[in-house]
Amino acid sequence: MNIKSAAFVASAVKPSQYPSPGKGEIAFAGRSNVGKSSLINTLLGRKNLVKTSSTPGRTQTINFFLINDSLYFVDLPGYGYAKAPVQVRKKWGPMVERYIETREGLCAVVVILDIRRTPNQQDHDLVAWLAYYNIPQVVVLTKADKLKRNKQVRQRTLIAEDLAIDPPSSLITFSASTGLGKRVLWKAIEAVL
Ligand code: GTP
Ligand code: MG
Repeated sequence: MNIKSAAFVASAVKPSQYPSPGKGEIAFAGRSNVGKSSLINTLLGRKNLVKTSSTPGRTQTINFFLINDSLYFVDLPGYGYAKAPVQVRKKWGPMVERYIETREGLCAVVVILDIRRTPNQQDHDLVAWLAYYNIPQVVVLTKADKLKRNKQVRQRTLIAEDLAIDPPSSLITFSASTGLGKRVLWKAIEAVL
């Protein structure tokens, strides 16, 4: 996709704060600090549109970005940040669940995993939960620049097995640092829009 414009439009903790639907919408979800915000910036070719941080738990609200006046990208807060205040952790599940359950126009959720790590219980819960609500998922393994090519392939096979996804090649290997996988991910997004 040729990105002509990309702008932050809303930050929400409840549906009344969401922008009006009626456009295609793709949400990005994953563990805290996995690289969600960086991935969105890479896809859009914008260095700092979405705030990134080496401190986990930076994104704590649902942030909407409007792309080319026709598509929303939604940066969801990360889960599983143990040091987040209890109040923040308690709100995460219901806040994101409500969004996923009720949002009209949500075309797919990009599930972002660290290629170096075995999916944890919350990753499994997210994948199961999206399947339950019949929401298409695109699974991305990010931070691939941290592994050599042969190790990337091995990890992809292990993670696919762990999540019972077949074939393993349907998982997209990605790096926000090098841009690896950017074209493939755009293709997958365009296919669900
Ligand atoms: P929260 O909003 O806190 O949940 O984090 P996030 O998932 O949005 O992660 P963010 O994009 O802020 O990135 C977290 C850290 O990982 C930052 O220090 C990034 O620079 C780094 N990072 C993200 N993607 C990559 C990648 O592909 N490769 C490498 N090497 N580092 C990455
Ligand atoms: Mg973030």
